[in-house]
Amino acid sequence: MKKKLIQHTKAHFEKVFQESPEHIFLSPGRINIIGEHIDYNDGFVMPAAINKYLCFAISKNTDATVTLIAQDLNEAYKFDLNDNLKPVDKMWVNYILGVLHQLKSKGLSTGCNIVFSSTIPMGAGLSSSAALECGVAYAMNKLFDLGLTKKDIALIGQQSEHTFVGVNCGIMDQFASVFGKKNKVIKLDCNSLEFEYYNADFKKYALLLLDSNVKHTHLTSGYNDRRQEVEQGLSIVKHYHPEVETFRDCNEKMITDLREQLGETIFKRCLFVVKEIQRVQDAAMALKISDFKKLGQLMTETHQGLSEDYEVSCAEIDFLVDAVQQEKSVLGARMMGGGFGGCSINLVEKGIEKELIDKITMAYRNQFGIELKAYKVKIAKGTTTYKTT
Ligand code: GLA
Repeated sequence: MKKKLIQHTKAHFEKVFQESPEHIFLSPGRINIIGEHIDYNDGFVMPAAINKYLCFAISKNTDATVTLIAQDLNEAYKFDLNDNLKPVDKMWVNYILGVLHQLKSKGLSTGCNIVFSSTIPMGAGLSSSAALECGVAYAMNKLFDLGLTKKDIALIGQQSEHTFVGVNCGIMDQFASVFGKKNKVIKLDCNSLEFEYYNADFKKYALLLLDSNVKHTHLTSGYNDRRQEVEQGLSIVKHYHPEVETFRDCNEKMITDLREQLGETIFKRCLFVVKEIQRVQDAAMALKISDFKKLGQLMTETHQGLSEDYEVSCAEIDFLVDAVQQEKSVLGARMMGGGFGGCSINLVEKGIEKELIDKITMAYRNQFGIELKAYKVKIAKGTTTYKTT
């Protein structure tokens, strides 16, 4: 599938520009085992890059013109790097403009031609947007020797989303896309950005994604509202506990004792955050000692919290998670990513996937009239140069 994507992107570049691209880059999507909505709450997360990619075919220009071609959307956008770069009304362009805007201040002055195409489904919670931002930053860094570190690239991607797209996201997606390693899960401390790789060895179990096919964009989903709510919550907690700096310094009792002061909604948001921070620590230990039953339980608990307390799930995803609860072959399931649609991630016994997918597909179709999609993903390497001539 990767080869096909590369050939297809390269062929399109050749057709449009009448020459071979000088460079090919691959930038992956991500999954997240556990640690949801806590990257912007000073928590820990456990994502990994997957074998679904955005492929970029690129050649340098001699002047400052940039031509972007989104092959899958059949759209193009051309501009000059010397222009005053501002958000435009094409969303996919903004992810890239936001990156280039920052790179101009880091020495980028020459343009390029870019064709990109993807096997990461859009709006499915697999971070195609982070793959786009980080892929462009990574490519420009290689092409023009900008001296950026991988961490710089992830932060530039995140900043682009904040400033040009308008989603106040955390760092998890960009970090996973850039730092991903084959067969490794990243345990990332979102406060210090220190990280550790854990073996993604699930023995007789596998990760299965069920895509609700409910598309979402975090510009309108409620994502930014959640950020505001927890910020407000944290400032109330700090008022009563001046020693607290982040949610990491809080425990459940502190939050429960402040229930009245926080108000019911913000109380629920804060409670989820504090519990989820602890769950990731427990999950990391469970993965280390191959206690998959425990890991599965923690994933399911995360879902309950996301659905009832953080309220970022939706009826379709709740249905997909509920539907596997009775299955002995499924150890745990939860919504993954920002929520409001997208995929559930399931820890399932290897070999039963097809049977399970058929069963859930039928039930889901009967309930919502929507076709389910399923992905058996492999954990792969982060953003990389595939070929340079
Ligand atoms: C989106 C954001 C991430 C993270 C997740 C939820 O994917 O981009 O930063 O907050 O939602 O865990």
